[in-house]
Amino acid sequence: MARFPNYRPRRLRRTAALRNLVRETHLAPSQLVLPVFVRDGGKVRRAVGSMPGVNQTSVDEMLRDAEAAATAGVGGIIFFGVPESKDATGSSAWDDKGAVQLGVRAVKKEFPDLVAITDVCMCEYTDHGHCGILRDGEVDNDATLELLSRAALSHACAGADIVAPSDMMDGRVQAIRTALDDNDCSSVAILSYAAKYASAYYGPFREAAESAPKSGDRRGYQMDPGNAEEAMREVRADIDEGADAIMVKPAGPYLDIVTRVKSETGYPVAAYQVSGEYAMICAAAERGWIDRERVMMESLLGIRRAGADFIVTYFATEAARQLGR
Ligand code: PBG
Ligand code: ZN
Repeated sequence: MARFPNYRPRRLRRTAALRNLVRETHLAPSQLVLPVFVRDGGKVRRAVGSMPGVNQTSVDEMLRDAEAAATAGVGGIIFFGVPESKDATGSSAWDDKGAVQLGVRAVKKEFPDLVAITDVCMCEYTDHGHCGILRDGEVDNDATLELLSRAALSHACAGADIVAPSDMMDGRVQAIRTALDDNDCSSVAILSYAAKYASAYYGPFREAAESAPKSGDRRGYQMDPGNAEEAMREVRADIDEGADAIMVKPAGPYLDIVTRVKSETGYPVAAYQVSGEYAMICAAAERGWIDRERVMMESLLGIRRAGADFIVTYFATEAARQLGR
């Protein structure tokens, strides 16, 4: 390799045009996915306190956000439900007239080019707030699989392009794949939240989705933040069970996992820049401590550089607009 003074990397940094020419990583609006929180009813728009700019919306209001996203070139939307009623088994999760199901139908009708992804989990629908059903105070893995499959199938029937299980039950990808295939939905893809960590960065989301566990925490099913080899086992297991793409979550503190999943599997990789990552950037920017737009773009570019093919982010529309300028 050439050495100084022959190698002068600054030569290619002199102008924006030169820098653009040799940039290795690119971020496009189509690689961004916007999370939405849908409720029943009409004309509902409730701000989420810990996530400035994020709202719970009824389907009609959500469509306005979807339109803004589509206009900016955002690639897709991921749906979370905020149901009016919850019970021990989370039965509203597979209600064909639930807010998510109606929302998916409406988006696919109005904006067919937006990819419709649904989050499949029980915590928004159970009265105890855990991601599966409880038996003797513990989450019962195998009994939850049937309920997740019902929810996923209901999303698929509503027109979801991709279902994304985020519950972290063992065997859920296989259970969901089988349910979809047995019911004429073999073309619906599964994006598995395979490497989902038990993270404190989910705090603001639980306000948005009203899904905080009433007792205990999620460490009995989500991953321990220190583990990377285990993440790779989770990922391989989900691929064996039929996952089409893999999600790593959170994104920023787990970029090593993003890189390994991409390089060791070659599968499509998504990374979820979660609520806490978003809230921290918003809060520091509000105080004037950092530049919101620049940190937003840098955080997203970093996730892409680590190996993510696409990014779930609350900045999706804002970032897509900035990229379009
Ligand atoms: C539901 C789910 C969570 C998130 C996505 N799906 C929360 C959790 O596991 O408690 C977090 C997303 C975010 O923080 O933005 N299982
Ligand atoms: Zn959950």
